[in-house]
Amino acid sequence: MKQDTIIVLDFGGQYTHLISRRVRELGVYSEICTYDISLEGLEKIPDVKGIIFSGGPNSVYDEESPLVSKEFFSWCEERGVPILGICYGHQLIAHILGGSVKRLDRREFGKTVLYIEEKEDLFQGLKDTEIVWMSHGDQVLELPPGFEKIGHTDNCPIAAYRNMTDRIYGVQFHIEVHHTEKGNRILENFVKGICGCQATWRMEDWIEETIRSIRKIVGGAKVIMAVSGGVDSTVAAVLLHRAIGKNLQCVFVDNGLLRENEAEEVIRGFKRLNLEPVHFVDAGETFLHRLEGVMDPEQKRRIISDTFIRIFETKARELENIYGKFEYLGQGTIYPDRVESAATSKSASRIKSHHNVVLPEGMTLKLVEPLASLYKDEVRKVGKLLGLSDEVVWRQPFPGPSLAVRIIGAVTKEKLSILRKADAIIQEEIQKSDFRNKLWQSFAVLLPVKTVGVMGDARTYENVIAVRAVESEDAMTANFAKLDWSILERIASRLVNEVKGINRVVYDITNKPPSTVEWE
Ligand code: XMP
Repeated sequence: MKQDTIIVLDFGGQYTHLISRRVRELGVYSEICTYDISLEGLEKIPDVKGIIFSGGPNSVYDEESPLVSKEFFSWCEERGVPILGICYGHQLIAHILGGSVKRLDRREFGKTVLYIEEKEDLFQGLKDTEIVWMSHGDQVLELPPGFEKIGHTDNCPIAAYRNMTDRIYGVQFHIEVHHTEKGNRILENFVKGICGCQATWRMEDWIEETIRSIRKIVGGAKVIMAVSGGVDSTVAAVLLHRAIGKNLQCVFVDNGLLRENEAEEVIRGFKRLNLEPVHFVDAGETFLHRLEGVMDPEQKRRIISDTFIRIFETKARELENIYGKFEYLGQGTIYPDRVESAATSKSASRIKSHHNVVLPEGMTLKLVEPLASLYKDEVRKVGKLLGLSDEVVWRQPFPGPSLAVRIIGAVTKEKLSILRKADAIIQEEIQKSDFRNKLWQSFAVLLPVKTVGVMGDARTYENVIAVRAVESEDAMTANFAKLDWSILERIASRLVNEVKGINRVVYDITNKPPSTVEWE
């Protein structure tokens, strides 16, 4: 199917994914490429209709700053592909094509009034002044030949420019963040007006197309997949199941570190989805035994991941004896997991796209990752269209190492029991509140300290629970949720009164960065 595509060239900006997501929200497919993609690489992407240069932390004059070649611009010009630069991208275009960029004495940051000088194309439909979001330490001083200024602010004389002949545009401000009030309109003007893209990126078509393509790739081969009950692996499993039916075998491993009643609920959910058979492995004792006395978070993670792979492999071998050889491993990898961004975020550096996963003892499986081009909100949309319940579609992310990362220090059955009860209370209270669908995650952390309290007339010496609730779009950054005091008070009071072993509750008010979401 023909699919107009906007490429977002990543210069390491924190909002790169946001740009791509906003384009997709306009109904146009968008992909992120690293800034140093070769022209041959670009040539291989079908139907490129426009290119957006992202922001980035560098200055164009830094020795190691990411650049693009003049040939890149010639490539675009020859094919009539328009370019839009944002922030660093805006400065870079000016720098490479013969303009100049200067360093500011003081960074400009925050909301600013943009005075619009030309409303013919990029700013069509906007007022003479609009609020935009600035975050820059450099700015364009002189324009390259053939360029004209189309907007300024009080501190930034060239806040937007264009070259109508070559169809190159630049904005110093960030159109992808909500603080730029008409950001979406500007993006739409570029994507649909200037690049002429059709809004054909529809999830209904994507589902049909994906099912067809899974059938074509996998054919009659067998696929094994580990499912967790989380939205990504569930949606991926349902898609695979629709495509190849019984040639998919799902395995659900209970690592003994799950939340209250979670294993039972997940299995019930799979039954409702007709995803059967889901092969259940109750491995709680094995995990707990291997984790005994282990304090170090990294070691805990390693043990959990090694144990998981070993158990999964044993189960896979057992199933091969019944169903025949597996050629593929199904995974719920989503786009942000896969993209190698220039940013040094954990997820960007963690996962690269592999073609083969080698399990121990020489078991080689090819990967099939049906969600590899989707963002989380798109995965949720697909889940909804596939008939998954809200409960599954809106399930909060839950880390692979499960509650082990929320017990600081060694994991024991007793601590797990305390944490499960605490977590259940927090979920119950959040579910009752207006914050229900507003949080990325909410959970309890069991701290390795005991403090003094008083209950009735008696002195207590018990554990502390930290409550964590965050808002986020993709977990790369997160803000602590400004929960109402009344909710926090109720949570604290219930935790202390209903969970034996807790006498103090604290609320985590740090954002990510500098903190992370999980405590570990
Ligand atoms: P941090 O703690 O790095 O977490 O800010 C960001 C997001 O990732 C989740 N997380 C994980 N998810 N396997 C996962 O599938 C993991 O090992 C893992 N560790 C953290 C975390 O819950 C948060 O949403």
